[in-house]
Amino acid sequence: MNPNHIHFNDGAAYERYMGVWSQRAGELFLDWLAPAPGQRWLDVGCGNGAFTERLVTRCDPASVHGIDPSEQQLAYARTRPALHAAQWHQGDAMALPFPDAMFDVAVMPLVIFFVPDPAKGVAEMTRAVRPGGLVAAYAWDMPGGGFPYEALNAEIRALGIAVPGPPSPDASRIDVLQSLWTEAGLEAVQTREIVVRRTFEDVEDFWTTVLGAPSLGAKLAVMTPADLALLKTRVIARLPREATGRITYSARANAVKGRVAR
Ligand SMILES: C[S@@+](CC[C@H](N)C(=O)[O-])C[C@H]1O[C@@H](n2cnc3c(N)ncnc32)[C@H](O)[C@@H]1O
Repeated sequence: MNPNHIHFNDGAAYERYMGVWSQRAGELFLDWLAPAPGQRWLDVGCGNGAFTERLVTRCDPASVHGIDPSEQQLAYARTRPALHAAQWHQGDAMALPFPDAMFDVAVMPLVIFFVPDPAKGVAEMTRAVRPGGLVAAYAWDMPGGGFPYEALNAEIRALGIAVPGPPSPDASRIDVLQSLWTEAGLEAVQTREIVVRRTFEDVEDFWTTVLGAPSLGAKLAVMTPADLALLKTRVIARLPREATGRITYSARANAVKGRVAR
């Protein structure tokens, strides 16, 4: 395993580290999509089902298929009671194992920067959705500092340690999303920013959450206790703390949506 790649191998740790952020951003994304009930949904890079659960709860879908390369993430998704009727597939966004026009809506929540060839991923979603259907995505604005744990990453980099990153960070830029969707032949393409806030009860709540970061946990585990304590102090100093000790801050994603040509 390459230590500088991100491996999603713990669905429960993901839930605390990213699932909470994902569901908050997912709510605003679904408000924006405003989908009709009774549609056939495809969730590409569904992970542990954090966003899938929101869509099932809110959108009254006719069917839901989720696909992700990580069997550990899918295993967690299968345990969600709300998702008992969903169908899960292990696979890659760049080679979707579905026939043309099988879905009404395809979404890629917090995934496009993990796809080595983002244009191929968008082409595959476009192929799998019927004419007139919806293809949409959102992703943390990585180059713009919108990632929820950017303060942590910046301080780790400052210690001279390589931070594992996704292969296609620029795909999360709003202008790149606009181009990807337009160049895939999608119509009525629109973009927007999504800003969400999260509160951690105290420093320990924040820090134990951070230690569940995919792949990063292993890097932190080999640091000396002194370096780890220094890192913790520096990261916490960057975050806004209330008098109660609670830490509240926001993260920012970019979203895109478009329709398959009729
Ligand atoms: C940040 S998680 C997002 C999970 C979920 N969509 C959510 O909103 O919580 C990124 C997911 O992308 C998946 N992924 C990575 N590379 C992928 C690829 N080439 N095709 C599809 N999914 C991929 C990972 O396994 C992981 O579950």
